[in-house]
Amino acid sequence: MRTLLKLLSDGEFHSGEDLGDKLGVSRSAVWKKLQQLESETGLEIHKVRGRGYRLANPLFLLDQRWLQESQGDAGWSIHVYDTIDSTNAEAMRLVAQEGSLPLLVTAEQQTAGRGRRGRKWVSPFAENLYYSLALRIDGGMRQLEGLSLLVGLAVVKMLREMGVEGAGLKWPNDILVGRRKLAGVLLELTGDPADVCHVVIGIGINVNMRASEEVDQSWTSMTLEAGVALDRNQVAARLSAYLKEYLAAHRQQGFSAFRAEWELNHLWQNQPVTLLAGSNAIEGVVIGVDTVGALRLRVGDQVIAYSGGELSLRLREQSEL
Ligand code: ATP
Ligand code: BTN
Repeated sequence: MRTLLKLLSDGEFHSGEDLGDKLGVSRSAVWKKLQQLESETGLEIHKVRGRGYRLANPLFLLDQRWLQESQGDAGWSIHVYDTIDSTNAEAMRLVAQEGSLPLLVTAEQQTAGRGRRGRKWVSPFAENLYYSLALRIDGGMRQLEGLSLLVGLAVVKMLREMGVEGAGLKWPNDILVGRRKLAGVLLELTGDPADVCHVVIGIGINVNMRASEEVDQSWTSMTLEAGVALDRNQVAARLSAYLKEYLAAHRQQGFSAFRAEWELNHLWQNQPVTLLAGSNAIEGVVIGVDTVGALRLRVGDQVIAYSGGELSLRLREQSEL
C-alpha cells in the first residue's frame, strides 16, 4: 500500500499501466489495489479516462528514515505505521516486548485513537500527527509530577514556532486556539510508579485537517490557523526537539521550575470556571497550578488544589456568574 501511496502522493495523474509497471502487477491488479486503498484510508482517488488516476489532494507521507536521521545522535527508535489501532496502544505493546527505549510510534491513521476516559480521538489518514513516545521512568513519582502539563507546554512552543501564534493551554491536557481544540495529550503508565515504570506520552495534533464530520466539539488545525499546509515530518521533528529539551529539564528540576511558564500559557488563567468531578460541579476562579501540576481554584474564600484523571474544566459564561 505504501509504495502505491508514494507514487500517488504528488497529486499528479499516473496511468494504470505506469503504476502496474512500477508495482510489478497487472492493470487490473492496480485497479483492485486502488479500491482497497480508498476503502482502507478514506482517501479520494479520481480516475479520468485517458489520463489515469490521481489523488484528489496531494499528500505528505510520514518518512521513517527522514525522522530517524533528523534526530541526529539522540537514538530514539522510530516506528511508523500506515494504520494502527492506537499509537499509544502500540507503544505499550512494544514496551512489553522490551524494545529499545525511548521509542516513538507514529502512524498515518488510527482506527481506535483514544482520548481521556475512553473517548475517541478522530484520526483521519495522513492529515494529522498521531505521536506516542515511550520512556522508562526510574526516578519515582517525582519524575511523573506535572509531566502531562509539561508535555502540553512543549507542544505549545512547537506550535508557536510553526506559525500557530494563538495556541495555548487548557488544564489539564488540551491545547486550544481560542475555544477550539487543536491538540490533546494522553499519558498512560505501566509498571509501578513508585519503582520502575514506563510512561507512554500520547500526543494528537491536528495538522492539515480542514474538515471533519466526526469531531463533536469545536476544533481547529495548524493549517487552518497558519494558512499553509505543513509537512508532518517537520512537525514531528520540531515536537521531538522541544520534548527532548523540556523532558531533560523536568528530570533535573521537576515541574516546579515550569509552573510560572505554564501559567503564562494557560488560556483560562483567572477565568471563572466549573470543575466537573463525576456528578459534582465545583464553581471557582482559576488561580493557577501547584508544584505538581494540580489545578488551584479559588472556591469561595479558599484556594483548593484539584488533581486526577476524572476532572474536566468548563468555562463559565459571564451570564452564569
Ligand atoms: P476535558 O474533559 O478535559 O474537558 P475534552 O472534552 O476535550 O476535555 P478529552 O478526553 O480531553 O475531552 O478529548 C477527547 C475529546 O476530544 C473527544 O470526546 C472529542 O470531543 C474531541 N476530539 C476527538 N478527536 C479530535 C480531534 N482530532 N481534534 C479535536 N478534538 C477532538
Ligand atoms: C485528549 O485530548 O483526550 C487526548 C488525545 C490524545 C490523542 C493521541 S493521538 C496519539 C496517541 N494515541 C492515542 O490513541 N491517543 C493519543
